[in-house]
Amino acid sequence: MSSQRTIKAAVLGAGTVGSGVCRLAQDLAGEFVNKTGANFEIKKVLVRSLAKEREGIPREVLTDNWKEIIDDPEIDIIVELMGGIEPAKTYVLEALRAGKQVVTANKDLLAEHGKEVMDAAEQAGVDLQFEAAVAGAIPIIRPLKQSMAGNHITEVMGIVNGTTNYILTKMTESGMSYDDALAKATELGYAEADPTADVEGYDAGRKIAIMASIAFNSRVTFSQVYTEGITKITADDIKYAKEFGYVIKLLGVARNTESGIEVKVHPMLIPENHPLAGVNDSINAVFVHADAMDDAMFMGRGAGQMPTASAVMGDIVDVCRNIVNGCCGRVGCSCYKILPVKEIGDTSSKFFLRIQAADKAGVLANIASVLGNNNVSIAQVVQKSRKSGTAELVIITDEVEERHFNDAVTILRGMSVVSEISGVIRVY
Ligand code: NAP
Ligand code: HSE
Repeated sequence: MSSQRTIKAAVLGAGTVGSGVCRLAQDLAGEFVNKTGANFEIKKVLVRSLAKEREGIPREVLTDNWKEIIDDPEIDIIVELMGGIEPAKTYVLEALRAGKQVVTANKDLLAEHGKEVMDAAEQAGVDLQFEAAVAGAIPIIRPLKQSMAGNHITEVMGIVNGTTNYILTKMTESGMSYDDALAKATELGYAEADPTADVEGYDAGRKIAIMASIAFNSRVTFSQVYTEGITKITADDIKYAKEFGYVIKLLGVARNTESGIEVKVHPMLIPENHPLAGVNDSINAVFVHADAMDDAMFMGRGAGQMPTASAVMGDIVDVCRNIVNGCCGRVGCSCYKILPVKEIGDTSSKFFLRIQAADKAGVLANIASVLGNNNVSIAQVVQKSRKSGTAELVIITDEVEERHFNDAVTILRGMSVVSEISGVIRVY
């Protein structure tokens, strides 16, 4: 082994994560050769604006010219931390086709164009590693692909968005407003450049698509994931959930069933004593169930500068080891099956339903009969408040096929005695 070899990389992006990776590279400089058998140098950092001050990144490594990187034969590893689809996709494909190893945290790219980039990596015989794309610092891609390869995985479920978990935690624990909690999550570097992706469940949807593809060995794209975010969750939903002994979390759920893959993201009431109920702030947690292994849970910081940089640097170390040992491209795409993905209406859930209805005799019976006629069985019902002729009803249903539940809600919305359906949330 040549102990003095230096492996050179370019980092694309010097934002939250990119600057964290540059910092870690400096921190690890003295130990890199012990960890990998080679030294490591970040030769170039690609940014949009050369005018911005970049603390801890020497000015001479900064460039706004991709050609300077892709045409440099000394650069072996491209670390893509710009985010978004373009130009990230073009740069990643060009890098792979040029025989460079790629590390990325870009779930948008992988969840929509995973097949194209995985195929390009396979054809070139190079590494494409993306541990940071799902659940920040938590090791989950490598365990799903490698440590659990001896299993048939049937379920992957968890809290995989730090921003929304932070917002829901602050709304629940300190009564913070949604807007204030989102502003704080953005300030802490958890939120995406456009936080719509976080709060509408798209970010979690991309992560669950990536995990489902690996876990079930069959490609699931983001467009196949049902997504529902947290923007409609109110302080009243949180308060009533608490009274029933639940907390509200945004969950990603993927199941491999006999009739196809179920893959969805939505807020959910989970019992206060469930292990996920205590996963707060920007912490993420992923449960995996598999035939031989049984259950495993992975938990840690799912967002933020240094936790995400930690996962990126773990991939860089692994790629450097592969380069030194001449075994890049060893672990490639694992989607060797083609399984159907179910429509949301064909999956089943329990529901929490909050209804504002006329406060008069027979209304509850009418509502119960609409639910019953659509195969929706009531598990609990409570009348919460009575104001100016209106009663607030909170109902928890038994498990029901979602299309039957939706049919019932459509009828309820059209009833003259129902003034509003104020909340519909799935229940664990
Ligand atoms: P960010 O703070 O917005 O940084 C993006 C960086 O990319 C900036 O330095 C920007 O340059 C550069 N950039 C963007 N478009 C570019 C272009 N066309 N050409 C050159 N440079 C360009 O983003 P981030 O939070 O670090 O996220 C980076 C990636 O990590 C994303 O894929 C994200 O989803 C993923 N990720 C983030 C976290 C997190 O907690 N933040 C966690 C896990 C994964 P300028 O500075 O000049 O604008
Ligand atoms: N915006 C993401 C989150 C960053 O809040 O979890 C990590 O992917």
